[in-house]
Amino acid sequence: MAALRWDGKLFVLDQRLLPWEERWVEVSSAEQAVELIRGLAVRGAPVIGLVAAYALALEAHKNPDLSYLEAQGQALAQARPTAVNLPHAVSLLLQVARETPEPERAKALAAAAEALHRADAEACLRMAQLGAAFLSGPSLSVLTHCNAGALATGGVGTALGVVRALHASGRLHRLYACEARPVLQGARLTAWEAVQDGLPVTLLADGAAGSLLASGAVHAVVVGADRIAADGSVANKVGTYPLAVLAQRHRVPFLVVAPTTTFDLACPSGAAIPIESRPAAEVRECAGRAVTAEGVGVFNPAFDVTPPELVTAIVCERGVIAPVTGENLQRVLA
Ligand code: MRU
Repeated sequence: MAALRWDGKLFVLDQRLLPWEERWVEVSSAEQAVELIRGLAVRGAPVIGLVAAYALALEAHKNPDLSYLEAQGQALAQARPTAVNLPHAVSLLLQVARETPEPERAKALAAAAEALHRADAEACLRMAQLGAAFLSGPSLSVLTHCNAGALATGGVGTALGVVRALHASGRLHRLYACEARPVLQGARLTAWEAVQDGLPVTLLADGAAGSLLASGAVHAVVVGADRIAADGSVANKVGTYPLAVLAQRHRVPFLVVAPTTTFDLACPSGAAIPIESRPAAEVRECAGRAVTAEGVGVFNPAFDVTPPELVTAIVCERGVIAPVTGENLQRVLA
């Protein structure tokens, strides 16, 4: 299972069509990559960074001129505002472009994108082991939100990587997946991944999380992240923050799993994280059909921010940050 394929050509699985159809789309320009990222054909913080990196490598093949690549890079970095993996990948590739003579640039950028892809896959495996070891108990039910799986990364996933590791060691009792309205990444993508891998999965409407946690059926909430600020504030799919409040109320560990490419130490706190506002149609409609009266106003932030005091631990490939404080974050990332 993968979100993208690269063999000198770039293909992405069009996630807008899942679970109905598995259609691979060839990406041949940065402009097309921006459209696919903005339209959520490809989504999830690490994977949009990887797609941007490969798209820049493709552009370098067409035209290795530095100012041309910088303009393409800027457009890619701005495709979506919240996941910091995107500008992180672009600035890494542009740095390689600056350091490489023009005739070798295309090859160097492709190698840099491949290295980023490999590093993300390795980070997922390491986080899966660390996260599974952090959670105690022989038979665990885990609640997750949105999709932080193979479809969102270059590997086995962040939150879903931990769930896969629990399953592999016989410690997963059940995965609970919130549907994640309005775009339904939980219902369409996480449930699809779980079924493909034979994980026992139960889907719930976002509003059912309160009664599920109150029932005592959930032993841990495990989610991914799009950007983590220097104080440990976590931006992730809208609906994550209420889950953290519920987890605290019901004394259930709330675990965030994210690679170091998701940390933004230049961002001092949650208030400084840019939150993407998405089109009203996503809320007004369901499966392409209007579900409300015409003219209704809509509030549609794609992400929310969970403050560090509600997060039990952040797992990255370098270790586990717990308790979540600015000092602990600096120590593990140093
Ligand atoms: O709008 P999306 O689908 O890109 O949102 C994705 C999420 O919020 C994920 O939880 C996050 O990117 C982490 S993916 C490993």
